[in-house]
Order: sequence, then structure tokens, then C-alpha cells
Amino acid sequence: MLLDEPTNNLDLNAIAWLEENLKRHEGTMVIISHDRHFLNAVCTHILDLDFNTLREFSGNYDDWYIASTLIAKQKEAERNKKLKEKEELERFIARFSANASKARQATSRQKQLDKLDIQSIEVSSRRDPSIVFKPQRTIGNEALECSQISKSYGDLVVLKNVSLKIAPKDKIALIGPNGVGKSTLCKILVEELAPDSGSVKWGATVLRGYFPQDVSESIQGEESLYQWLFNFNKKIESGEVRNALGRMLFSGAEQEKSINALSGGEKHRMVLSKLMLEKGNFLVLDEPTNHLDLEAIIALGEALYKFEGALICVSHDRELISAYANRIIELVPSNKGAKVIDFRGSYEEYLASKGT
Ligand SMILES: Nc1ncnc2c1ncn2[C@@H]1O[C@H](COP(=O)(O)OP(=O)(O)O)[C@@H](O)[C@H]1O
Ligand SMILES: [Mg+2]
Repeated sequence: MLLDEPTNNLDLNAIAWLEENLKRHEGTMVIISHDRHFLNAVCTHILDLDFNTLREFSGNYDDWYIASTLIAKQKEAERNKKLKEKEELERFIARFSANASKARQATSRQKQLDKLDIQSIEVSSRRDPSIVFKPQRTIGNEALECSQISKSYGDLVVLKNVSLKIAPKDKIALIGPNGVGKSTLCKILVEELAPDSGSVKWGATVLRGYFPQDVSESIQGEESLYQWLFNFNKKIESGEVRNALGRMLFSGAEQEKSINALSGGEKHRMVLSKLMLEKGNFLVLDEPTNHLDLEAIIALGEALYKFEGALICVSHDRELISAYANRIIELVPSNKGAKVIDFRGSYEEYLASKGT
């Protein structure tokens, strides 16, 4: 079987089901995926495509990560050694090539230098984005309280009397199957969508950052990436804008590209750049990992772990959830409006509490 990103848009239960069935499958499979938990559960070998060549590793994703990090370190050390050697040879040549008695030695060093092949030691073509969410200020006592929220689309009751109180240090994973109402809840919380009834009350010291599930609406225009970001806040320095773009691996030339020309993954990286610049202390992220590659997902997990504010993040990536969440809110489908399970603890503790 050849499976190209089979977990995209699947919810946690569906991914767990797929993992179990693929593990039991007897045949050979080649799978492309950015889901570390899934790769670890299913794969016995990793093919690493870097510099246009494939290298094979035995083991799952974690094994590959350890082995490849080690190889990268060795290569780096080898490269540094050669660079030092090069420096010494160059110094010698510069000093003695004009000196008749040493000219022969200088020539032989020049030959040595010509033979030094530093270019061929490539560490990796992968580049890790660096994501840092630094709040402008800390949240006071109150972060967010919503009470008795209800929302229907025609006859479809999505939310019924949902009440939540969120504290300044809560890092919430909002989970649940496709179509249960996670995005609807996020939109109501950030006041993009009005509930049919109920209230949303934000603390006075909260600065919100919002990552919508569908970013295509919010990212449009003819202007360059740089200009687009700058337009949100003309008070920030241009260096800071360039820095935020650079952190998401947009090079100087790319920063001049038009917003309309961006791919799905690039648009998601843009929203992350914007969130970094906004310096919010309460993040609402609706499936931010869609279209992101593994390096970016790992960087996002670290950023959310280190973030010193409150956050709600919708995601189906178990490793990501494990990286940051200290509270799990699961929406369970019901025709009278989603049932809310509110659990304080990590995702592993939540699974253990359910006996799964
Ligand atoms: N604008 C809309 N009009 C009608 N139905 C909608 C609209 N937005 C969402 N829905 C429906 O409401 C339900 C919840 O959607 P959503 O909040 O996007 O779920 P989730 O984010 O959990 O996948 C789904 O059945 C979806 O089809
Ligand atoms: Mg959604």
C-alpha cells in the first residue's frame, strides 16, 4: 500500500483506528506522514529524503530522530575540523608564499588546500523554523468565562448551554471528531460568530491571538508578505517584521512575494509569523498543524510548551497535544448539542482516566 498523508483531517479516534489496522496489516506499506505518533506506532523503517537522495533507517520515527541527530552532529564536527585545517593552511600559504626558502612548502600546502572538500559535507537541507510566542504582558486574574452558549445552524444543534471558565495558565487541547463543533466554539470565543444565546466575557488584560482553521479568507491581497504583516501594526520596527518572517523560514527574497502567491503551508506559516508579532497572551488556535511539516510542528509544540499565557488549541496530533496541554476539553457528538468533557491533566492522563 502507498499512503500519502492518510491522517490529514482525520480525528484522533479515526487515527487510532487506522494505526491499529495498519499495524495488523501483513503487507508492505510506504507511508508519507507528518504525524509522529502515527509514524512511531506503525512504521518499522524510515526512508529519509534529503539532498535528493533516500537513506534507509531501521526503526520508527523516534529511532530515526536519534540516529539522524547523531549523524548530523558527527558531520558537523567533521566539517568544523576541516574548516580549521583550511584556516591553518591558508595562514601558512599567505605567510610563506613570498618567501623563497619556504615557497616549495607553500605550494604543497596549496595542493592540500585544493584537495580539502568541505562542500561535500552537508549537514542537512532541513531547516527548523523557530517559533516563540512572547506575551506583551501577563493576564490578570480573569482570562475567559463563557456561559450558557448555544448555537444552531438551522435545525442542526451544534452547541447547547456550554459554559467554560478558563484561567490564565490553562493550556487547553480542544478535541473531538470532525463536525462536532470545535471551530464553531472557537469562532464564538473570539467573537467572529455570535452565539444564539449565552455570553462570552474576556478579561480586561487579555490580548488575543487567533489562528482560524480556514486561513485563506484572512490571507489575501496583492501586497508583499512583508507589507501585509507591517500593515497590521505600523508601530513595530521593520526589523522585527523581517525577523518574524525569517523565523518561519521566509528568506529575504521570499518576503517580497505577493501574498496571493502563497501555498497552503506557506499561508499557515504566515499566520504563525503574525501571531508572534502580535504578542498575545491568550491564543486560540484552530488546527494550526494542517499543512505544516514535521519540523514546524515540533517547533510549534515547543513554543506552546514554553508559552506563558493561556491557550486553546484544536489539533489531532497526539505528540503536539502531549507537548503542551494541561487541560483537555473533548466535545462528544450528540443530537442535542455536543456534550462537553472537561478534564484537568495531560492527554495521557485523560486517556488513562477513560481506561483506553
Ligand atoms: N456556516 C455554517 N452553516 C451551516 N452549517 C455549518 C456552518 N458551519 C458549520 N456548520 C456545521 O456545524 C457542525 C460543526 O462544524 P464545525 O464547528 O466546523 O466542526 P469541527 O470544527 O469540530 O469539525 C458541522 O456539522 C458543520 O457542517
Ligand atoms: Mg474545525
